[in-house]
Amino acid sequence: MKRIVVLALTCILLLGVLVGCSKPEQSGKEKLIMSTSAGFPPYEMTDDEGNYIGIDVEIAYAIADELGMELVIDDLEFAAALEAAKSGKSDMVMAGVTVNEEREKEMIFSIPYATAVQVIIVTEDSEIRSKEDLPGKSIGTQIGTTGNIYCEDDYGEVSNVIGYDNGITAIQALKNGQIDCVVVDNAPAQTFVKDNKGLKILETEYKTEQYAIGFAKNKTELRDKVNEVLKKLIDNGTVAEIVDAYINAEPEKDYGDGFWGKFHRAFIARNRWKQYLSGVGSTLMVTALALVIGVVLGVLVAIIRTAHDQQRPGRKNVILGFVNGICKVYITVIRGTPMLVQLLIMGFVIFSSSRSYTAIGILTLGINSGAYVAEIIRGGLMSLDPGQMEASRSLGMNYIDSMRFVVVPQAFKSILPSLGNEFITLLKDTALIYTIGGKELVYAARAIANRTYEQMFPLVGSAVIYLVLVLIFTWLQGLLERRLRQSDRR
Ligand code: ARG
Repeated sequence: MKRIVVLALTCILLLGVLVGCSKPEQSGKEKLIMSTSAGFPPYEMTDDEGNYIGIDVEIAYAIADELGMELVIDDLEFAAALEAAKSGKSDMVMAGVTVNEEREKEMIFSIPYATAVQVIIVTEDSEIRSKEDLPGKSIGTQIGTTGNIYCEDDYGEVSNVIGYDNGITAIQALKNGQIDCVVVDNAPAQTFVKDNKGLKILETEYKTEQYAIGFAKNKTELRDKVNEVLKKLIDNGTVAEIVDAYINAEPEKDYGDGFWGKFHRAFIARNRWKQYLSGVGSTLMVTALALVIGVVLGVLVAIIRTAHDQQRPGRKNVILGFVNGICKVYITVIRGTPMLVQLLIMGFVIFSSSRSYTAIGILTLGINSGAYVAEIIRGGLMSLDPGQMEASRSLGMNYIDSMRFVVVPQAFKSILPSLGNEFITLLKDTALIYTIGGKELVYAARAIANRTYEQMFPLVGSAVIYLVLVLIFTWLQGLLERRLRQSDRR
Protein backbone atom coordinates (compact mmCIF):
# COMPACT_ATOMS: atom_id res chain seq x y z
CA MET A 1 0.00 0.00 0.00
CA LYS A 2 2.73 2.42 1.01
CA ARG A 3 4.57 1.60 -2.19
CA ILE A 4 1.47 2.28 -4.27
CA VAL A 5 0.93 5.65 -2.66
CA VAL A 6 4.56 6.62 -3.20
CA LEU A 7 4.40 5.47 -6.81
CA ALA A 8 1.19 7.39 -7.38
CA LEU A 9 2.57 10.57 -5.92
CA THR A 10 5.80 10.27 -7.89
CA CYS A 11 3.90 9.78 -11.15
CA ILE A 12 1.58 12.69 -10.54
CA LEU A 13 4.47 14.88 -9.49
CA LEU A 14 6.53 13.94 -12.51
CA LEU A 15 3.67 14.70 -14.80
CA GLY A 16 2.95 17.92 -13.03
CA VAL A 17 6.52 18.96 -13.68
CA LEU A 18 6.22 17.91 -17.32
CA VAL A 19 2.97 19.76 -17.80
CA GLY A 20 3.91 22.74 -15.75
CA CYS A 21 7.10 23.78 -17.39
CA SER A 22 7.87 23.80 -21.06
CA LYS A 23 10.85 22.13 -22.66
CA PRO A 24 14.22 22.96 -21.15
CA GLU A 25 16.23 25.80 -22.58
CA GLN A 26 18.60 24.66 -25.26
CA SER A 27 20.29 27.65 -26.76
CA GLY A 28 20.28 30.09 -23.91
CA LYS A 29 18.49 32.50 -26.23
CA GLU A 30 15.12 33.77 -25.18
CA LYS A 31 12.27 31.93 -26.90
CA LEU A 32 9.77 33.42 -29.27
CA ILE A 33 6.81 31.07 -29.32
CA MET A 34 4.62 31.23 -32.38
CA SER A 35 1.36 29.35 -32.67
CA THR A 36 0.21 28.48 -36.16
CA SER A 37 -2.01 26.09 -38.08
CA ALA A 38 0.11 24.33 -40.61
CA GLY A 39 -2.47 23.28 -43.19
CA PHE A 40 -2.46 26.55 -45.09
CA PRO A 41 0.07 26.43 -47.92
CA PRO A 42 1.99 28.47 -48.96
CA TYR A 43 1.78 30.36 -45.64
CA GLU A 44 2.31 27.41 -43.33
CA MET A 45 2.67 23.69 -43.88
CA THR A 46 4.98 20.84 -42.92
CA ASP A 47 7.70 19.40 -45.12
CA ASP A 48 8.43 15.72 -45.34
CA GLU A 49 10.56 15.58 -42.24
CA GLY A 50 7.73 17.19 -40.34
CA ASN A 51 9.47 20.59 -40.22
CA TYR A 52 7.36 23.69 -40.50
CA ILE A 53 7.83 25.72 -43.66
CA GLY A 54 5.95 28.44 -45.50
CA ILE A 55 5.85 32.19 -45.87
CA ASP A 56 4.75 32.89 -42.29
CA VAL A 57 7.31 30.46 -40.92
CA GLU A 58 10.19 32.06 -42.84
CA ILE A 59 9.14 35.56 -41.89
CA ALA A 60 8.88 34.45 -38.27
CA TYR A 61 12.40 32.98 -38.41
CA ALA A 62 13.67 36.24 -39.88
CA ILE A 63 11.97 38.22 -37.12
CA ALA A 64 13.32 35.95 -34.37
CA ASP A 65 16.78 36.26 -35.90
CA GLU A 66 16.65 40.04 -35.87
CA LEU A 67 15.42 40.01 -32.27
CA GLY A 68 18.15 37.56 -31.26
CA MET A 69 15.52 35.10 -30.10
CA GLU A 70 14.94 31.42 -30.76
CA LEU A 71 11.73 30.64 -32.68
CA VAL A 72 9.57 27.81 -31.36
CA ILE A 73 6.54 26.75 -33.42
CA ASP A 74 3.37 25.16 -32.07
CA ASP A 75 1.07 23.66 -34.68
CA LEU A 76 -2.58 23.76 -33.61
CA GLU A 77 -5.99 24.00 -35.20
CA PHE A 78 -6.64 27.50 -36.48
CA ALA A 79 -9.03 28.60 -33.71
CA ALA A 80 -6.72 27.08 -31.10
CA ALA A 81 -3.73 28.93 -32.58
CA LEU A 82 -5.58 32.24 -32.18
CA GLU A 83 -6.66 31.25 -28.69
CA ALA A 84 -3.10 30.33 -27.72
CA ALA A 85 -1.83 33.81 -28.55
CA LYS A 86 -4.83 35.46 -26.92
CA SER A 87 -4.32 33.62 -23.64
CA GLY A 88 -0.57 34.13 -23.65
CA LYS A 89 0.20 30.43 -24.10
CA SER A 90 2.21 31.51 -27.15
CA ASP A 91 3.87 34.86 -27.76
CA MET A 92 2.21 35.42 -31.09
CA VAL A 93 0.02 33.80 -33.72
CA MET A 94 1.13 33.80 -37.33
CA ALA A 95 -1.24 31.80 -39.48
CA GLY A 96 -2.36 33.99 -42.35
CA VAL A 97 -4.53 35.72 -39.74
CA THR A 98 -6.86 38.34 -41.14
CA VAL A 99 -7.29 41.40 -38.96
CA ASN A 100 -10.97 42.01 -38.28
CA GLU A 101 -13.04 43.85 -35.71
CA GLU A 102 -13.91 40.84 -33.55
CA ARG A 103 -10.31 39.74 -33.32
CA GLU A 104 -9.16 43.26 -32.55
CA LYS A 105 -11.41 43.19 -29.50
CA GLU A 106 -9.53 40.14 -28.21
CA MET A 107 -5.93 40.81 -29.22
CA ILE A 108 -3.53 43.30 -30.73
CA PHE A 109 -1.91 43.06 -34.15
CA SER A 110 1.34 43.95 -35.89
CA ILE A 111 1.45 46.01 -39.05
CA PRO A 112 0.05 44.03 -42.00
CA TYR A 113 2.54 42.03 -44.09
CA ALA A 114 0.30 40.57 -46.80
CA THR A 115 -3.13 40.95 -48.34
CA ALA A 116 -5.63 38.33 -49.32
CA VAL A 117 -9.10 37.93 -50.70
CA GLN A 118 -11.57 35.07 -50.39
CA VAL A 119 -12.15 33.05 -53.54
CA ILE A 120 -14.34 30.12 -54.52
CA ILE A 121 -12.79 26.86 -55.68
CA VAL A 122 -14.98 24.61 -57.83
CA THR A 123 -14.40 21.61 -60.07
CA GLU A 124 -13.83 22.50 -63.72
CA ASP A 125 -17.23 21.15 -64.76
CA SER A 126 -19.12 22.92 -61.94
CA GLU A 127 -22.34 24.78 -62.65
CA ILE A 128 -21.33 27.43 -60.09
CA ARG A 129 -20.10 30.48 -62.01
CA SER A 130 -20.09 33.16 -59.33
CA LYS A 131 -21.12 34.02 -55.80
CA GLU A 132 -24.73 34.39 -57.00
CA ASP A 133 -24.93 30.62 -57.50
CA LEU A 134 -23.99 29.75 -53.91
CA PRO A 135 -27.47 29.70 -52.29
CA GLY A 136 -28.65 26.13 -51.88
CA LYS A 137 -25.16 24.66 -52.32
CA SER A 138 -22.86 22.78 -49.95
CA ILE A 139 -20.01 25.16 -49.19
CA GLY A 140 -16.78 23.94 -47.62
CA THR A 141 -14.74 26.31 -45.44
CA GLN A 142 -12.13 26.10 -42.72
CA ILE A 143 -13.78 26.46 -39.35
CA GLY A 144 -13.13 29.73 -37.51
CA THR A 145 -11.71 31.54 -40.55
CA THR A 146 -13.00 34.66 -42.24
CA GLY A 147 -14.19 32.58 -45.21
CA ASN A 148 -16.27 30.51 -42.80
CA ILE A 149 -17.64 33.62 -41.09
CA TYR A 150 -18.62 35.34 -44.39
CA CYS A 151 -20.34 32.23 -45.72
CA GLU A 152 -22.19 31.61 -42.46
CA ASP A 153 -23.36 35.23 -42.47
CA ASP A 154 -24.40 35.28 -46.13
CA TYR A 155 -25.56 31.73 -46.77
CA GLY A 156 -25.90 30.10 -43.36
CA GLU A 157 -29.68 30.06 -43.68
CA VAL A 158 -30.01 29.01 -47.30
CA SER A 159 -26.98 26.80 -47.91
CA ASN A 160 -25.14 24.04 -46.14
CA VAL A 161 -21.97 25.73 -44.86
CA ILE A 162 -19.51 23.15 -43.56
CA GLY A 163 -16.52 24.02 -41.37
CA TYR A 164 -13.63 21.62 -41.91
CA ASP A 165 -10.60 21.49 -39.66
CA ASN A 166 -8.52 22.89 -42.48
CA GLY A 167 -8.70 23.97 -46.10
CA ILE A 168 -7.03 20.83 -47.35
CA THR A 169 -9.71 18.60 -45.86
CA ALA A 170 -12.30 20.81 -47.55
CA ILE A 171 -10.49 20.39 -50.90
CA GLN A 172 -10.51 16.64 -50.47
CA ALA A 173 -14.26 16.73 -49.80
CA LEU A 174 -14.69 18.80 -52.96
CA LYS A 175 -12.70 16.30 -54.99
CA ASN A 176 -14.79 13.47 -53.58
CA GLY A 177 -17.98 15.25 -54.61
CA GLN A 178 -19.19 15.65 -51.00
CA ILE A 179 -19.51 19.43 -51.37
CA ASP A 180 -20.01 21.84 -54.28
CA CYS A 181 -17.29 24.40 -53.62
CA VAL A 182 -14.70 25.66 -51.15
CA VAL A 183 -14.35 29.28 -50.01
CA VAL A 184 -10.82 30.07 -48.86
CA ASP A 185 -8.06 32.70 -49.07
CA ASN A 186 -6.62 33.22 -52.56
CA ALA A 187 -3.00 32.16 -51.99
CA PRO A 188 -3.81 28.72 -50.55
CA ALA A 189 -6.50 28.43 -53.23
CA GLN A 190 -3.82 28.84 -55.89
CA THR A 191 -1.65 26.20 -54.23
CA PHE A 192 -4.61 23.82 -53.99
CA VAL A 193 -5.47 24.28 -57.68
CA LYS A 194 -1.84 23.90 -58.70
CA ASP A 195 -1.50 20.66 -56.72
CA ASN A 196 -4.82 19.12 -57.81
CA LYS A 197 -6.07 18.52 -61.32
CA GLY A 198 -9.60 19.49 -62.34
CA LEU A 199 -10.15 22.50 -60.04
CA LYS A 200 -10.54 26.18 -60.85
CA ILE A 201 -10.90 29.48 -59.00
CA LEU A 202 -13.78 31.99 -59.12
CA GLU A 203 -13.69 35.53 -57.71
CA THR A 204 -15.99 36.52 -54.83
CA GLU A 205 -15.78 40.31 -54.53
CA TYR A 206 -15.46 40.03 -50.77
CA LYS A 207 -13.32 42.87 -49.44
CA THR A 208 -9.54 42.62 -49.37
CA GLU A 209 -8.13 41.31 -46.09
CA GLN A 210 -4.87 42.17 -44.34
CA TYR A 211 -2.72 39.51 -42.73
CA ALA A 212 -0.93 40.49 -39.52
CA ILE A 213 0.68 38.88 -36.51
CA GLY A 214 -1.56 38.59 -33.43
CA PHE A 215 -0.49 39.04 -29.79
CA ALA A 216 -2.16 38.97 -26.39
CA LYS A 217 -3.45 42.38 -25.39
CA ASN A 218 -0.77 42.90 -22.77
CA LYS A 219 2.13 42.16 -25.12
CA THR A 220 2.42 45.67 -26.53
CA GLU A 221 6.15 45.80 -25.91
CA LEU A 222 6.83 42.65 -27.93
CA ARG A 223 4.39 43.79 -30.60
CA ASP A 224 6.26 47.08 -30.98
CA LYS A 225 9.60 45.30 -31.25
CA VAL A 226 8.19 42.92 -33.86
CA ASN A 227 6.68 45.84 -35.78
CA GLU A 228 10.01 47.54 -36.01
CA VAL A 229 11.71 44.43 -37.38
CA LEU A 230 8.81 43.53 -39.65
CA LYS A 231 8.86 47.00 -41.19
CA LYS A 232 12.54 46.62 -41.87
CA LEU A 233 12.01 43.19 -43.48
CA ILE A 234 9.25 44.58 -45.69
CA ASP A 235 11.30 47.64 -46.67
CA ASN A 236 14.45 45.73 -47.55
CA GLY A 237 12.52 43.27 -49.71
CA THR A 238 13.01 40.17 -47.54
CA VAL A 239 9.28 39.56 -47.19
CA ALA A 240 8.70 39.90 -50.95
CA GLU A 241 11.58 37.50 -51.60
CA ILE A 242 10.09 34.90 -49.27
CA VAL A 243 6.65 35.26 -50.84
CA ASP A 244 8.11 34.90 -54.34
CA ALA A 245 10.01 31.77 -53.49
CA TYR A 246 6.88 30.05 -52.21
CA ILE A 247 4.45 31.25 -54.85
CA ASN A 248 6.74 29.89 -57.57
CA ALA A 249 7.55 26.64 -55.77
CA GLU A 250 7.38 23.34 -57.64
CA PRO A 251 4.22 21.30 -57.05
CA GLU A 252 4.52 17.89 -55.41
CA LYS A 253 5.94 15.33 -57.86
CA ASP A 254 3.24 13.41 -59.71
CA TYR A 255 3.28 9.67 -59.08
CA GLY A 256 -0.01 9.20 -60.90
CA ASP A 257 -3.51 8.82 -59.55
CA GLY A 258 -3.60 5.03 -59.61
CA PHE A 259 -3.48 2.82 -56.53
CA TRP A 260 0.31 2.49 -56.49
CA GLY A 261 0.83 6.16 -57.23
CA LYS A 262 -1.25 7.12 -54.21
CA PHE A 263 0.31 4.40 -52.10
CA HIS A 264 3.77 5.57 -53.05
CA ARG A 265 2.94 9.18 -52.22
CA ALA A 266 1.38 8.27 -48.85
CA PHE A 267 4.04 5.91 -47.53
CA ILE A 268 7.21 5.80 -49.55
CA ALA A 269 7.87 9.13 -51.26
CA ARG A 270 10.24 11.35 -49.28
CA ASN A 271 10.59 8.66 -46.60
CA ARG A 272 7.12 9.36 -45.26
CA TRP A 273 7.08 5.98 -43.50
CA LYS A 274 9.46 7.51 -40.99
CA GLN A 275 6.74 9.94 -39.94
CA TYR A 276 4.34 7.06 -39.22
CA LEU A 277 7.06 5.26 -37.33
CA SER A 278 7.75 8.16 -35.02
CA GLY A 279 3.96 8.54 -34.63
CA VAL A 280 3.73 4.93 -33.46
CA GLY A 281 6.57 5.59 -31.03
CA SER A 282 4.74 8.45 -29.37
CA THR A 283 1.43 6.59 -29.42
CA LEU A 284 3.05 3.75 -27.47
CA MET A 285 4.76 6.11 -25.07
CA VAL A 286 1.51 7.99 -24.41
CA THR A 287 -0.32 4.71 -23.84
CA ALA A 288 2.30 3.36 -21.46
CA LEU A 289 2.49 6.50 -19.32
CA ALA A 290 -1.27 6.95 -19.24
CA LEU A 291 -1.59 3.31 -18.27
CA VAL A 292 0.73 3.75 -15.30
CA ILE A 293 -1.29 6.72 -14.08
CA GLY A 294 -4.56 4.89 -14.74
CA VAL A 295 -3.56 1.74 -12.90
CA VAL A 296 -2.10 3.54 -9.91
CA LEU A 297 -5.12 5.79 -9.59
CA GLY A 298 -7.47 2.90 -10.23
CA VAL A 299 -5.91 0.66 -7.58
CA LEU A 300 -5.98 3.46 -5.02
CA VAL A 301 -9.59 4.34 -5.67
CA ALA A 302 -10.68 0.71 -5.75
CA ILE A 303 -9.00 -0.01 -2.42
CA ILE A 304 -10.56 3.01 -0.78
CA ARG A 305 -14.00 2.18 -2.10
CA THR A 306 -13.85 -1.50 -1.17
CA ALA A 307 -12.46 -0.74 2.27
CA HIS A 308 -15.32 1.69 2.77
CA ASP A 309 -17.98 -0.71 1.59
CA GLN A 310 -16.62 -3.57 3.65
CA GLN A 311 -16.57 -1.73 6.97
CA ARG A 312 -18.42 -3.53 9.68
CA PRO A 313 -21.84 -1.99 10.37
CA GLY A 314 -21.77 0.47 13.20
CA ARG A 315 -18.02 1.11 12.87
CA LYS A 316 -17.96 3.72 10.12
CA ASN A 317 -14.81 5.77 9.75
CA VAL A 318 -15.53 9.44 8.96
CA ILE A 319 -12.33 10.14 7.01
CA LEU A 320 -12.81 7.03 4.94
CA GLY A 321 -16.37 8.12 4.25
CA PHE A 322 -15.14 11.48 3.02
CA VAL A 323 -12.39 10.11 0.78
CA ASN A 324 -14.84 7.55 -0.55
CA GLY A 325 -17.20 10.39 -1.45
CA ILE A 326 -14.45 12.10 -3.45
CA CYS A 327 -13.69 8.85 -5.26
CA LYS A 328 -17.35 8.44 -6.14
CA VAL A 329 -17.57 11.94 -7.58
CA TYR A 330 -14.40 11.32 -9.58
CA ILE A 331 -15.77 8.11 -11.08
CA THR A 332 -19.17 9.63 -11.80
CA VAL A 333 -17.77 12.71 -13.53
CA ILE A 334 -15.22 10.82 -15.60
CA ARG A 335 -17.59 8.11 -16.68
CA GLY A 336 -20.42 10.54 -17.28
CA THR A 337 -18.64 12.89 -19.69
CA PRO A 338 -17.10 12.26 -23.11
CA MET A 339 -13.37 11.65 -23.27
CA LEU A 340 -13.04 14.27 -26.00
CA VAL A 341 -14.68 16.93 -23.85
CA GLN A 342 -12.39 16.05 -20.94
CA LEU A 343 -9.40 16.48 -23.22
CA LEU A 344 -10.61 19.84 -24.52
CA ILE A 345 -11.27 21.09 -20.99
CA MET A 346 -7.83 19.98 -19.81
CA GLY A 347 -6.09 21.39 -22.90
CA PHE A 348 -7.91 24.66 -23.31
CA VAL A 349 -9.26 25.49 -19.85
CA ILE A 350 -7.32 23.94 -16.99
CA PHE A 351 -3.90 23.92 -18.63
CA SER A 352 -4.65 26.77 -20.99
CA SER A 353 -1.23 28.27 -20.48
CA SER A 354 0.81 25.09 -20.78
CA ARG A 355 2.42 24.09 -24.05
CA SER A 356 3.18 20.49 -23.09
CA TYR A 357 0.35 19.22 -25.22
CA THR A 358 1.34 15.58 -25.19
CA ALA A 359 1.84 15.55 -21.42
CA ILE A 360 -1.62 17.08 -20.92
CA GLY A 361 -2.95 14.31 -23.15
CA ILE A 362 -1.21 11.64 -21.08
CA LEU A 363 -2.50 13.08 -17.83
CA THR A 364 -6.07 13.29 -19.12
CA LEU A 365 -6.03 9.78 -20.53
CA GLY A 366 -4.56 8.46 -17.29
CA ILE A 367 -7.17 10.18 -15.14
CA ASN A 368 -9.90 8.95 -17.45
CA SER A 369 -8.62 5.41 -17.48
CA GLY A 370 -8.21 5.40 -13.70
CA ALA A 371 -11.96 5.67 -13.21
CA TYR A 372 -12.63 2.60 -15.33
CA VAL A 373 -9.75 0.64 -13.86
CA ALA A 374 -11.04 1.44 -10.37
CA GLU A 375 -14.44 -0.01 -11.14
CA ILE A 376 -12.94 -3.08 -12.78
CA ILE A 377 -10.75 -3.76 -9.77
CA ARG A 378 -13.50 -3.02 -7.31
CA GLY A 379 -15.75 -5.45 -9.17
CA GLY A 380 -13.02 -8.08 -8.91
CA LEU A 381 -12.47 -7.50 -5.19
CA MET A 382 -16.18 -7.51 -4.41
CA SER A 383 -16.81 -10.62 -6.50
CA LEU A 384 -14.67 -12.68 -4.18
CA ASP A 385 -16.54 -14.60 -1.53
CA PRO A 386 -16.34 -12.58 1.73
CA GLY A 387 -15.47 -15.91 3.39
CA GLN A 388 -11.96 -15.55 1.92
CA MET A 389 -11.35 -12.33 3.80
CA GLU A 390 -12.99 -13.62 6.96
CA ALA A 391 -10.96 -16.81 6.87
CA SER A 392 -7.65 -15.04 6.50
CA ARG A 393 -8.56 -12.50 9.18
CA SER A 394 -9.47 -15.32 11.56
CA LEU A 395 -6.05 -16.82 10.84
CA GLY A 396 -4.65 -13.68 12.39
CA MET A 397 -3.68 -11.71 9.26
CA ASN A 398 -4.45 -8.02 9.32
CA TYR A 399 -6.56 -6.29 6.66
CA ILE A 400 -3.65 -5.29 4.44
CA ASP A 401 -1.98 -8.68 4.53
CA SER A 402 -5.27 -10.46 3.82
CA MET A 403 -5.77 -8.18 0.84
CA ARG A 404 -2.23 -8.67 -0.33
CA PHE A 405 -1.86 -12.42 0.03
CA VAL A 406 -5.40 -13.74 -0.27
CA VAL A 407 -7.87 -11.41 -1.92
CA VAL A 408 -5.87 -9.50 -4.56
CA PRO A 409 -4.08 -12.50 -6.14
CA GLN A 410 -7.42 -14.24 -6.62
CA ALA A 411 -9.21 -11.15 -7.87
CA PHE A 412 -6.40 -10.36 -10.29
CA LYS A 413 -7.13 -13.36 -12.44
CA SER A 414 -10.79 -12.57 -12.86
CA ILE A 415 -10.19 -8.93 -13.74
CA LEU A 416 -7.39 -9.56 -16.19
CA PRO A 417 -9.63 -9.80 -19.29
CA SER A 418 -11.46 -6.55 -18.47
CA LEU A 419 -8.17 -4.87 -17.64
CA GLY A 420 -6.83 -5.96 -21.02
CA ASN A 421 -9.85 -4.44 -22.74
CA GLU A 422 -9.32 -1.22 -20.84
CA PHE A 423 -5.73 -1.13 -21.99
CA ILE A 424 -6.79 -1.59 -25.61
CA THR A 425 -9.36 1.20 -25.28
CA LEU A 426 -6.65 3.41 -23.87
CA LEU A 427 -4.33 2.65 -26.76
CA LYS A 428 -7.01 3.64 -29.23
CA ASP A 429 -8.08 6.72 -27.26
CA THR A 430 -4.60 8.18 -27.62
CA ALA A 431 -5.72 9.05 -31.14
CA LEU A 432 -7.81 11.86 -29.63
CA ILE A 433 -4.94 13.87 -28.22
CA TYR A 434 -4.12 15.40 -31.57
CA THR A 435 -7.18 17.62 -31.03
CA ILE A 436 -5.32 19.49 -28.30
CA GLY A 437 -2.02 19.60 -30.15
CA GLY A 438 -0.56 16.25 -29.09
CA LYS A 439 1.58 14.55 -31.67
CA GLU A 440 1.06 10.84 -32.27
CA LEU A 441 0.11 8.47 -35.06
CA VAL A 442 -3.05 10.28 -36.18
CA TYR A 443 -1.19 13.57 -36.25
CA ALA A 444 1.42 12.00 -38.54
CA ALA A 445 -1.28 10.58 -40.82
CA ARG A 446 -3.10 13.91 -40.99
CA ALA A 447 0.11 15.80 -41.72
CA ILE A 448 0.83 13.48 -44.61
CA ALA A 449 -2.75 13.73 -45.91
CA ASN A 450 -2.31 17.49 -45.85
CA ARG A 451 0.73 17.23 -48.07
CA THR A 452 -0.69 14.74 -50.54
CA TYR A 453 -4.36 15.82 -50.66
CA GLU A 454 -5.21 12.19 -50.13
CA GLN A 455 -6.84 10.95 -46.93
CA MET A 456 -7.49 7.34 -47.76
CA PHE A 457 -4.02 5.88 -47.59
CA PRO A 458 -2.75 7.73 -44.52
CA LEU A 459 -5.97 7.11 -42.58
CA VAL A 460 -6.42 3.47 -43.57
CA GLY A 461 -2.69 3.03 -43.01
CA SER A 462 -2.94 4.34 -39.46
CA ALA A 463 -6.01 2.17 -38.84
CA VAL A 464 -4.02 -0.89 -39.92
CA ILE A 465 -1.19 0.08 -37.58
CA TYR A 466 -3.59 0.42 -34.62
CA LEU A 467 -5.14 -2.91 -35.50
CA VAL A 468 -1.77 -4.65 -35.61
CA LEU A 469 -0.81 -3.12 -32.26
CA VAL A 470 -4.09 -4.24 -30.70
CA LEU A 471 -3.66 -7.75 -32.11
CA ILE A 472 -0.16 -7.98 -30.64
CA PHE A 473 -1.41 -6.89 -27.23
CA THR A 474 -4.40 -9.24 -27.36
CA TRP A 475 -2.01 -12.07 -28.08
CA LEU A 476 0.24 -11.09 -25.16
CA GLN A 477 -2.77 -10.88 -22.89
CA GLY A 478 -3.81 -14.38 -23.95
CA LEU A 479 -0.34 -15.65 -23.11
CA LEU A 480 -0.49 -14.12 -19.65
CA GLU A 481 -3.93 -15.55 -18.94
CA ARG A 482 -2.78 -19.00 -19.99
CA ARG A 483 0.24 -18.75 -17.72
CA LEU A 484 -1.96 -17.81 -14.78
CA ARG A 485 -4.31 -20.71 -15.48
CA GLN A 486 -1.37 -23.13 -15.57
CA SER A 487 0.13 -21.87 -12.34
CA ASP A 488 -3.30 -22.44 -10.83
CA ARG A 489 -3.38 -26.10 -11.66
CA ARG A 490 0.01 -26.80 -10.15
N1 ARG B 1 -7.25 34.55 -43.37
C1 ARG B 1 -8.24 33.69 -42.84
C2 ARG B 1 -8.58 34.09 -41.42
O1 ARG B 1 -7.86 34.78 -40.79
C3 ARG B 1 -7.84 32.23 -42.90
C4 ARG B 1 -6.58 31.89 -42.18
C5 ARG B 1 -6.37 30.42 -42.06
N2 ARG B 1 -5.05 30.16 -41.62
C6 ARG B 1 -4.51 28.94 -41.39
N3 ARG B 1 -3.27 28.86 -41.05
N4 ARG B 1 -5.22 27.88 -41.51
O2 ARG B 1 -9.57 33.73 -40.90
